[in-house]
Amino acid sequence: MTETGPLKRAAALRALDEVSEGMVLGLGTGSTVAHFLVGLAEYLRVGRLKEIVGVPTSLWTADRCRDLGIPLTSLASHPILDLTVDGTDEVDPSVNLIKGLGGALLREKMVAQAALRMVIIADQTKIVRRLGERVPLPVEVVQFGWEVHQHAFHEMGAHPSLRTRADGQPLITDNGNYIIDCQFPGGIEDPKAVEAELAARAGVVETGLFLEMAEKVYVADIGGITVIERSK
Ligand code: A5P
Repeated sequence: MTETGPLKRAAALRALDEVSEGMVLGLGTGSTVAHFLVGLAEYLRVGRLKEIVGVPTSLWTADRCRDLGIPLTSLASHPILDLTVDGTDEVDPSVNLIKGLGGALLREKMVAQAALRMVIIADQTKIVRRLGERVPLPVEVVQFGWEVHQHAFHEMGAHPSLRTRADGQPLITDNGNYIIDCQFPGGIEDPKAVEAELAARAGVVETGLFLEMAEKVYVADIGGITVIERSK
């Protein structure tokens, strides 16, 4: 099996080509983005990039940026971003995504919606034919009455499970919510319909379906990097 670390790094460093001086950047979450942040910090340090500010999509990313000296801002100060660069858990042939295994889906989606462009960095293990065939769909829900969603998610054909931490307690997101991971056997047949049905439920805060949002994906394989662009 190919080790994914070097592939994640290759895709992340390639995406630095998308960044230019003075940009307001969305900064995603996860192990692939971690490589992007290291590269960005290095470009800033040597003066190859200047006057960059970033909106972090998680407390984790904010901490990493502080450690690396990447200047941060907020959506309040910069409601329109030039570009967001993020990782993903799955990419389908239409460049639709499942995100949120790292738990940051809500802020990642808010930042993506505020950004003029979204570029994804990934290793080839993230490529799927159908969303949901490899990973569960994360759904962020408010803590109050979270149990009521389980029956509805079953009715939609999913096998839901509350995400827990290593100590068995429910994982709490940066926004104080829970995540229910929904396994769809065989994948999600109609992502738009699933997104609409989930979004219509009171108590569902956000889903990990990122449909028609990403402009392009840098996919790293042992043979090199492929760019997959979404047809307009
Ligand atoms: C975070 O909530 C996720 O959306 C990440 O973008 C996703 O899990 C990718 O993570 P890795 O880069 O660690 O694979």
